[in-house]
Amino acid sequence: MQTFIENLPKAELHLHIEGTFEPELMFEIAQRNEIDLPFEDVEALRKAYDFSRLQDFLDIYYQGMNVLREEQDFYDLTWAYLTRIHKQNVLHTEIFFDPQGHTDRGIPFETALNGIYNALQDGQKQLGISFGVIMCFLRHLDEDAAMATLEQALAHKDKIIGVGLDSSEMGHPPEKFTNVFARAKAEGFHIVAHAGEEGPPEYVRQALDVLHVERIDHGNRALEDEALTQRIVESGMALTVCPLSNLKLCVVDDLKNHPIKKMLKAGLKATINSDDPAYFGGYMNENFGQLAEAVGLTRDEIATLARNGFEATFLPKDQQQALVAKLDAYLATA
Ligand code: ADE
Ligand code: ZN
Repeated sequence: MQTFIENLPKAELHLHIEGTFEPELMFEIAQRNEIDLPFEDVEALRKAYDFSRLQDFLDIYYQGMNVLREEQDFYDLTWAYLTRIHKQNVLHTEIFFDPQGHTDRGIPFETALNGIYNALQDGQKQLGISFGVIMCFLRHLDEDAAMATLEQALAHKDKIIGVGLDSSEMGHPPEKFTNVFARAKAEGFHIVAHAGEEGPPEYVRQALDVLHVERIDHGNRALEDEALTQRIVESGMALTVCPLSNLKLCVVDDLKNHPIKKMLKAGLKATINSDDPAYFGGYMNENFGQLAEAVGLTRDEIATLARNGFEATFLPKDQQQALVAKLDAYLATA
């Protein structure tokens, strides 16, 4: 099954580019920017990746992105991610970035965006990976700060396809961002939001009713509410599920207890994604592979998850169909 997964054409729809920062590259960039990391070496840093909840991870994630200063740093980070997923047969990726994680440190919005975007364009040309960029608002900050960030993005509508919502979920419900999401939607951005990772089903309901999301990032806790689950099934809306993230952040106690089969049986359009692979122990193939092994996914279930990934992209229909055709060609031979 591992070989089947490795060669399977895939799309990734829930990936924080700052969460792909491997310790080796972090030390390299820290050194060139003359920044002291509060860790002795790569090994000591990796040892710190032991989390009991989302906030434990976020504390170290924001500390890590602190070494990104120059456009080249953002380019190198993104290029490293692209070369990895190229080897994993990821054909399309829609990545998140956290502009406020950079602008709040005095790094211009354009420094981060241009570095990321130039690497993605090179990835499209040299590796054939198509892409979209979604910027996320940090939900632990206030709505005015999110609005100021949206205003900065308006000059870059050619590079940014959507807006999302991430960071500390508990205590920061989607409705806190009603106005900024309404404005983003009116400006033509696609809309997604993290909901139901740690937060209750009510936050998922708000993401639907108040933010008008087109995809739900995570969404695990929607399963606690049957009516809500049914509503999501009927809407055909995708969930961007992140198995190794769920394990490392203790959203599930054991990968064997991951609700992916329950999601598929309920008729939810679940997709598999890596979230913050440098911190959670794996990219797309590891997420598919370890989950398949833990819960005993069948070949058909794996194919459905991959198909859902392509169908849930924000690509125009013809490009989506071209990717699904590649998947079907693979399935016919594998
Ligand atoms: N930022 C990066 N990864 C995240 C996650 N899984 N949940 C919320 N915010 C995030
Ligand atoms: Zn995430």
